[in-house]
Formats: sequence, C-alpha cells, structure tokens
Amino acid sequence: MLSIEDLSKTYADGTQALSRIGLAVPAGEIVALIGGSGCGKTTLLRLVAGLDRASAGQIRLDGEAITAPHPGVGLVFQEPRLLPWLSVADNVGFGLAHLAGPERRARVAHALERVGLAEHAGRWPRELSGGQQQRVSIARAFVANPRVLLLDEPFSALDAFTRRDLHGHLLALWEEVRPTVLIVTHDVAEAVALADRAVVMRPKPGRLDDTVPLPLPRPRDPAAPQSEAAARRILAALDRSLRPAEAAPQNANWW
Ligand SMILES: Nc1ncnc2c1ncn2[C@@H]1O[C@H](COP(=O)(O)OP(=O)(O)O)[C@@H](O)[C@H]1O
Ligand SMILES: [Mg+2]
Repeated sequence: MLSIEDLSKTYADGTQALSRIGLAVPAGEIVALIGGSGCGKTTLLRLVAGLDRASAGQIRLDGEAITAPHPGVGLVFQEPRLLPWLSVADNVGFGLAHLAGPERRARVAHALERVGLAEHAGRWPRELSGGQQQRVSIARAFVANPRVLLLDEPFSALDAFTRRDLHGHLLALWEEVRPTVLIVTHDVAEAVALADRAVVMRPKPGRLDDTVPLPLPRPRDPAAPQSEAAARRILAALDRSLRPAEAAPQNANWW
C-alpha cells in the first residue's frame, strides 16, 4: 500500500503547490493523475519519488516513510533521459550494477524483449526514434522490479499511434511485475486505457478534486461504449476542476 497522508508542499517562494493531499493506493493499482497545468502533479510525483521534501504530511510505502529516493520506486519522465554514451542495453542495466553480470544481462535482455527492442540492444540512444527511446526508459524502470512506478506525462510527446503502442508495452510489463502505478497524464483517453481510477486535481493550491473509478475489463477497447462513457465522466470532472470552487448556495433547499 502506498499512502499519501495529509501531504502539503509550499515552495521557498511561497507557492502552495500541494495542499493536504490524501490518497491510499493498494499494491498493484494504476492511478491516473489528471488536471490542468500547475495543479501540483509533478510536485506530487517528486515527493513520492523522494526527490523533494514535503512541507507537511507524509508518504509511506508499506508503512515505511519515504523521505529520500527509494530503490523500490521507479520513475519515467516525459523525455526519455537516456545516457547518450551508453548503449541501449547498458542504459537499461544502469541501475543493476549490484547484480552479477549474467543475471544483469538476462534481466536486461528480458526487459528489452518485453518492449520489443531486443534487436536494438547494442544501438546508441541517438539511433532510436522518440517512441523507441521512451520504450528503453520504460524497460529501465521495470528492470529493477519496482514496487511503485511513477510516470510523469510519459507519452505526451509522442504521436497517437506510438502512444497506443506504448500503452500496450507498459501494460504487458505491469501484468508481469504488478507495481503500483501513478501516471500523470492530460489525455483522458490515456487514463481510460490504463488506469483503475482517475484522480482529478485542481490548482491554487494543488489538491485532489474528484475520483472517477474505471472498473473496465482488460484488455480495453477505446471504442467500446464503456470506455467512451468513462472518458465522459473524467471530462466532466475535469471541467468542474477548471471552474472556480462554487460558493455554497445561500438557500440549499430553494427547490
Ligand atoms: N521549484 C519550484 N519552485 C517554486 N514553485 C514551483 C517549483 N516547482 C513547481 N512550482 C510551482 O508549483 C505549482 C505546481 O507545479 P507542478 O507540480 O509542476 O504542476 P503540474 O505538474 O501539475 O503542472 C506551480 O504553480 C508551479 O509554478
Ligand atoms: Mg508537470
């Protein structure tokens, strides 16, 4: 269980990026974080990754407080962030230096195969397309068998076709490793394709606004009526989150 408890973050300049976030994510759940720009999505992931400290509240992974980068927490960013001087295989195996060579090579080969890049293991990152590079960064995150995987708009720079292809690769790896996943997206269809639940955020200060459960069977068909209905529910919640908070009506029983 990943528990985010009463979490707030105010930056040194006074920006209230997060205010009293509470979210409990059972092991293996996929949660999509969705919301307008500036509502604290990246701040939240950075805190869960232990890359920054909260101003108040806490984050616990199976009871253990996260206050610094944790080996059980993997991260994928919008851009692939590969090391240009290492081959594809060495990028994927970069965090596995503690393992013996044969095991490391076997794990890297398996992860690359799962993202469909087995034949590119010896290439340089610059020889790959953007979508292929992002597949490498997903393989790199999964090769460590993370308990929690954090993805910050990982597919937003890719075309729609490549994005769908990567959804498939991500889900195939998730099926195998079953990490808890927090994925930031601004793409409602992406939330419906991937997540068990969409959590909608609201800015100034950043906070959780609404939750839309997505109990759809997998594999999911984006054109199925259930998917379209789920997308509409998220859009409606998103719409509400972009409006200023409504003041309580003067006379709630006017009707
Ligand atoms: N290092 C920082 N210092 C000051 N303000 C920041 C910093 N990082 C983010 N912010 C501010 O915090 C708010 C939330 O930012 P961010 O978490 O990046 O939102 P999102 O990812 O949802 O777009 C924004 O107002 C942003 O300008
Ligand atoms: Mg962001």
